[in-house]
Amino acid sequence: MKHHFSIIITLMIFIFIHTTVAAQADTGKPNITILATGGTIAGSSASKTDTTDYQAGSLGIQTLIDAVPELNHIAHITGEQIANVDSNDIDNHILLTLSKKVNQLLSQNQQGVVITHGTDTLEESAFFLSLTVKQSKPTVFVGAMRPATAISADGPMNLLEAVTLAASPQAQQRGTMVVLNDRIASAFYVTKTNAVSNDTFKAIEQGYLGLFINGQPKFFYTPAAPIDQVYFDVSQLTNLPRVDIIYVHQGQDATLLNAAISAGAKGIVIDATGNGNMPKALEEAVAKALTKNIPIVITSRTGAGYVSNKKQGISSGFLNAQKSRILLQLAIATGANLTQIETYFDHQR
Ligand code: SIN
Repeated sequence: MKHHFSIIITLMIFIFIHTTVAAQADTGKPNITILATGGTIAGSSASKTDTTDYQAGSLGIQTLIDAVPELNHIAHITGEQIANVDSNDIDNHILLTLSKKVNQLLSQNQQGVVITHGTDTLEESAFFLSLTVKQSKPTVFVGAMRPATAISADGPMNLLEAVTLAASPQAQQRGTMVVLNDRIASAFYVTKTNAVSNDTFKAIEQGYLGLFINGQPKFFYTPAAPIDQVYFDVSQLTNLPRVDIIYVHQGQDATLLNAAISAGAKGIVIDATGNGNMPKALEEAVAKALTKNIPIVITSRTGAGYVSNKKQGISSGFLNAQKSRILLQLAIATGANLTQIETYFDHQR
């Protein structure tokens, strides 16, 4: 009897020590919030082989979290559904909500924030946050090219890597990043380069920041920000101005540019040929728009390189059309004049 009693006491002490140590280890885990917006990572289809004709943005954040129990080994996870849409339907309101929310969370007790997002416009939202979140802690965008219901869906591993990165001390001072297919990229430069492949997010000239090996981030360099990165305070903004993109091709005239201005565009991005070139008829219309103080940014439809042609408008440097549109929206929204806008784009050189 006495023997049984001492075994029970020993067991109770063991359980007490074990749970105390476990609790201590648990409180040592960082807090990570996952903000969900939809996309293919939350996509589903009736067929496991369907990788193109599925419904994006149909599963909720808790379903995504529950599919990867390993997330809970890395961090205290909180999930919040900001939207559940195809990323083509991400609007100014969602962008501003995301930015304000991330700034708030990172100013509090969150170690990092992960944002799940459709890949089609992920680079636009990620660039927007890279220009509007000024924090030493990381924001990590993640998506997937295959829906959650597909055989060999990439979403669960991408999500695990994104949370691992957001929780990593090595991710500090690196701003907003994008994780997909084991690659870590700067949100400032990365772009979607392939319509269907898992290996789609690349920064052609600038390369990657690092990659994942065996579940752990390996960076190539010490933390750095893009040269002269600009920041905008959007805390008081409730909307963003209309800025349209016009794609240049042979035989184009002034019709679309004039239509954009009539529709109320406060700025225009011309996705020009080569080093910022366009047909004469459009060039004349650009010159006319500039006399009306409408800022016009010239990008290159080639998809890489540097636009230096300053014959007309503001050249975008390394920024592509969709990123230039975001920067122009923010510049106009915060009251920049033409000279200041030029300076913002000059800072990209
Ligand atoms: C989307 O961008 O929402 C759909 C496509 C994707 O996430 O890959």
